[in-house]
Amino acid sequence: DDPALLEPRPPVVCVLGHVDHGKTTLLDSIRKANVVSGEAGGITQHIGAYQVEHEDHKITFIDTPGHAAFSKMRERGANVTDIAVLVVAADDGFMPQTDEALKFAQKANVPVVVAINKADAKGANLDRVKQQMQDRNIAPEDWGGETQCEAVSALKGEGIDDLLSAILIQSEILELKANPKCPAKGMVVESQIEQGRGPTATVIIQKGTLKVGNALVCGENYCKVRAMVDENGKPVKSAPPATPVRVLGWSGAPPAGVQFHTVKNEKIAKREVEENVQEARRLSQMSKTSEPADLPTD
Ligand code: GTP
Ligand code: NA
Ligand code: MG
Repeated sequence: DDPALLEPRPPVVCVLGHVDHGKTTLLDSIRKANVVSGEAGGITQHIGAYQVEHEDHKITFIDTPGHAAFSKMRERGANVTDIAVLVVAADDGFMPQTDEALKFAQKANVPVVVAINKADAKGANLDRVKQQMQDRNIAPEDWGGETQCEAVSALKGEGIDDLLSAILIQSEILELKANPKCPAKGMVVESQIEQGRGPTATVIIQKGTLKVGNALVCGENYCKVRAMVDENGKPVKSAPPATPVRVLGWSGAPPAGVQFHTVKNEKIAKREVEENVQEARRLSQMSKTSEPADLPTD
């Protein structure tokens, strides 16, 4: 893209960490305290992603399950995320999945902000976690390193503001920008078949602006965008870069992690999708027929 067309955009953040270290509690706590346009008493929907506002800046969180079964999506998800919050329980310290998550992020070149969670717990040891960070070459800033790190209690809602500030500091360093004026491109965060709505998908816009009426190609599914709703279930007409939105009007539910792009009309979308289906079929047949050839012959 022409640099002149780029405009600042919010960071897209995912939360990673070992099982039971408090990822879901942290995401809930952040959302409760800061969600954008959350009406008091309003029913918030789980759409797999949400935006909060902090110090007049928006931050987009991807809110999907983080345990091992979802590692595939998490791996794909690193493509759309700018920053990973690595949750480490202060009483447990670094565990195997913490290290695995750190490797994911580093491989994808996504900087981490460490949330030392359960700071309230009996047996919490902040210095031990900081030592473990240093041992992994992600020394905390207050130890002379470069990694943002905050002690929090997701359960009590303590330290959340400081964590959000740390995310914004990291975001500023990245100078995140996108062209909001081109046809939209983005990624599916999650999808489902909803009663009365048909297949729906929560997507994150990576560039451009997604609008009602757009025709989308998303792997083996297409979409003529019939309607879009935000995380509060409120209908929206358009969605700029880094915005999460639930999209209605799909031919089928596209899997999480698949990218979409906008085409001129539904007819072109159907044709491109048909080509993708053919190609997928061809590849799966090729892998089937190539197997016997790999067997030793005499
Ligand atoms: P998985 O999704 O299963 O990997 O777990 P998770 O990382 O999402 O952890 P979850 O939020 O489900 O929290 C696990 C347990 O830790 C729950 O019993 C929480 O109540 C508890 N917990 C989470 N945050 C805190 C905290 O800040 N302090 C204390 N004391 N407990 C916490
Ligand atoms: Na849990
Ligand atoms: Mg969880």
